[in-house]
Amino acid sequence: MSAASDPGGFYTLVRNLLFRLEPERAHDLALAALRYAMPVALARQLHRRAAHAPVNLLGLAFGNRVGLAAGLDKNGDYIAALYALGFGFLELGTVTPHAQKGNRPPRLFRLPQHQALINRMGFNNLGVAHLAARVQHFRQAVPDAVIGINIGKNRDTPLAQADRDYAHCLRRVHRLASYVVVNVSSPNTPGLRDLQQTQALDALLAKLQQVRDELHAAGEERRPLLVKLSPDLNDDDIPELVEVVLSRGIDGVVATNTTAGRAGVADHPLAGQSGGLSGAPLAPLAEHVLQGLHAALRGRLPIIAAGGILSAEDAARRMALGADLVQLYSGLVYRGPRLIREVAERLSRAA
Ligand SMILES: Cc1cc2nc3c(=O)[nH]c(=O)nc-3n(C[C@H](O)[C@H](O)[C@H](O)COP(=O)(O)O)c2cc1C
Repeated sequence: MSAASDPGGFYTLVRNLLFRLEPERAHDLALAALRYAMPVALARQLHRRAAHAPVNLLGLAFGNRVGLAAGLDKNGDYIAALYALGFGFLELGTVTPHAQKGNRPPRLFRLPQHQALINRMGFNNLGVAHLAARVQHFRQAVPDAVIGINIGKNRDTPLAQADRDYAHCLRRVHRLASYVVVNVSSPNTPGLRDLQQTQALDALLAKLQQVRDELHAAGEERRPLLVKLSPDLNDDDIPELVEVVLSRGIDGVVATNTTAGRAGVADHPLAGQSGGLSGAPLAPLAEHVLQGLHAALRGRLPIIAAGGILSAEDAARRMALGADLVQLYSGLVYRGPRLIREVAERLSRAA
């Protein structure tokens, strides 16, 4: 929806102001404003009043089918504010073992004509210990919130040792997270997406399977472990990838991350910026990979769909293509928080 079709909308006003700022600054400012306005008690009340359409999946009770996609709250600094917006679940991170600054700004770009973003943030985060402390703090007030934690590797960790980073993060967040996502699909950490190759993925997931067994043996409750995939996968790779995921006891997939391609935006002056493209132009690719995964999985694992969901119709189509839940990121930038309720209500009717 364009600003013109929502002339009096509050978010339209806010968006017009925010879009005058440099994108990363607008992003930080919007989140900071939300956080300062939001004590946890109020967040809980607002959450209850927001679209409530419970869904049981992965052994978890989701408030509704709409989640926050990873990357917006990498450090868990805005959990209460985001929870108050009415998401059925939040995915925090990507977090890495050690704090790292990420790429040098500017690293986030708006392409409003295309309702798209390009980002090369590069996993800027304060490290897994910080995130764990934030989640623990929120859990004390709201124990039943569904909070996924998305894990990755530090940039300076050689790819051959990536499994150690993922294992470290998994151990650290396992007790606190509702579910954990193995991110092997960000285009902004060199080599990361090579971990989607069958052998590399099998080795990584074997290691994580071992960590899960250890944690279970030590008395920790089993947590669902999901893998987040790229929209740039080849059709031919999907069936094999699915076999690896199934054989290593993975509980679900998130499809998809941003694309390294520029289909649909090639004419834009910012198209040459390196990074991952998200928003409306990503939808056809994300839908294609979702269809491939759905065909290969044949209902054996749930799928969380992300990538270019900017309306209730987009979300409903994703469900029709085999998704069980959906996640939003760029849609929040272009449509504002009202998108959460619109999608949650539409999907509760469809269920
Ligand atoms: C600025 C920005 C940062 C992101 N950071 C992460 C991240 O750290 N980890 C991750 O798995 N995905 C990250 N993503 C990808 C989103 O979670 C999502 O998969 C992608 O943007 C597609 O959804 P969308 O079209 O609704 O934005 C990021 C996206 C954006 C725009």
